[in-house]
Amino acid sequence: MGTILRNGQLLISGELVTKDVLIEENMIARIADSIDGVGHEVIDVQGKLVTPGFIDMHVHLREPGFEAKETIATGTASAARGGFTTVACMPNTRPVTDTPEVVQQILRKAKEEGSARVLPIGAITVRELGKELTDMAALKEAGIVAVSDDGVGIQTSQMMKDAMKMATSLGLPVVAHCEDDSLAEGGCVHEGIFSEKHGLKGIPSEAESIHVSRDILLAEATGTHYHVCHISTAESVRLVREAKQRGVRVTAEVCPHHLLLCDEDIPGLDANYKMNPPLRSRRDRDALLEGLKDGTIDMIVTDHAPHTAEEKQRGMELAPFGIVGLETAFPLLYTKLVLPGAFTLQEIVDRMTKVPADVFNLPWGVLEEGAVADIAVIDLETEKEVDPTTFLSKGRNTPFTGWKLKGWPVLTMLEGRVVWQAEEMNNEGARP
Ligand code: DOR
Ligand code: ZN
Ligand code: ZN
Repeated sequence: MGTILRNGQLLISGELVTKDVLIEENMIARIADSIDGVGHEVIDVQGKLVTPGFIDMHVHLREPGFEAKETIATGTASAARGGFTTVACMPNTRPVTDTPEVVQQILRKAKEEGSARVLPIGAITVRELGKELTDMAALKEAGIVAVSDDGVGIQTSQMMKDAMKMATSLGLPVVAHCEDDSLAEGGCVHEGIFSEKHGLKGIPSEAESIHVSRDILLAEATGTHYHVCHISTAESVRLVREAKQRGVRVTAEVCPHHLLLCDEDIPGLDANYKMNPPLRSRRDRDALLEGLKDGTIDMIVTDHAPHTAEEKQRGMELAPFGIVGLETAFPLLYTKLVLPGAFTLQEIVDRMTKVPADVFNLPWGVLEEGAVADIAVIDLETEKEVDPTTFLSKGRNTPFTGWKLKGWPVLTMLEGRVVWQAEEMNNEGARP
């Protein structure tokens, strides 16, 4: 017996087309105008968008070590609710994901308790201290998909060059959090309108862009696949655009919050608007939208970074950087970019599915016969307010509370198994 998703709206060459999808075992067995339901479970998804499960190459699951913020169980439940079936988790755990043992521990937990597939990212340097390279070969053997010291920048050029040489010899992408400490030190928001108004120390744009420019030169010299994390400045976008034109193997990701907010939107000293990199200027925000549109920026990621309420209440200067993102990403992008016509639905869906799969060489992210049945079903009509108290994540730290959005995922399948469904999808008694 298989499962049929009946009368869903599939994106085919940019058009929404009504189709039935038959899932057998863990695969998509058939896609057709009408599939006989006899002998199968039938789920009515009439009028709902059916897409490949989303892929998020940048999340913080916090386990091991920071289970008060999030666990693999809660973080992947949050992912499933957001329509994500694959998440890559950053290594700034405790201990840091810098040994095969930690990688194995994450993979084991994800298998036992996870509602989404988890791809660990290993640290570039031991304890992310920037002093000594990790044993990347052993980490790769254990199952990492890339290396990163996310949370901190690699401060010296020599260390980055060594890291790139090692990663390249192993076929691992270098995923870089770009931040020059000598420029960023002590800053809590973007250096600009908001920091001046409130007398706060700012993080200047160059703190990011200088690393991007340095790393592009190093990637060119070493042949590395270099991936820029959470790109946030106009200059970084320009540098990546020019590097791509020259044929350098560089890719980039952007977060929904950097596409939709700028420093002018921060209402006051609320740490739910504090993340790293910070919300930049309006000009930067516009450059990110342009960069995403023209393909300079490849994919959208959330940088889901849960913290406890107590930590976030410490205020703008003392609270840790980061906001949650998995449960609001698609509704935000759909409502604020697709509905007003800035991006097509296909453009946004591709940047959350097929493109990250292609860039990181992953076998998921497509909805076609013979593909693994990782699927998100999305209600494009019902408007709901963002209500963090309903999040499956432990984190409640979002600047989007109260935003009225459409495009809420209602059912998520991982390898043919329903890993999340909204109450309204509990259609027991549905007839073939
Ligand atoms: O906002 C952020 N939060 N940026 C980072 O680079 C790290 C992350 C975290 O781990 O909380
Ligand atoms: Zn980062
Ligand atoms: Zn991050």
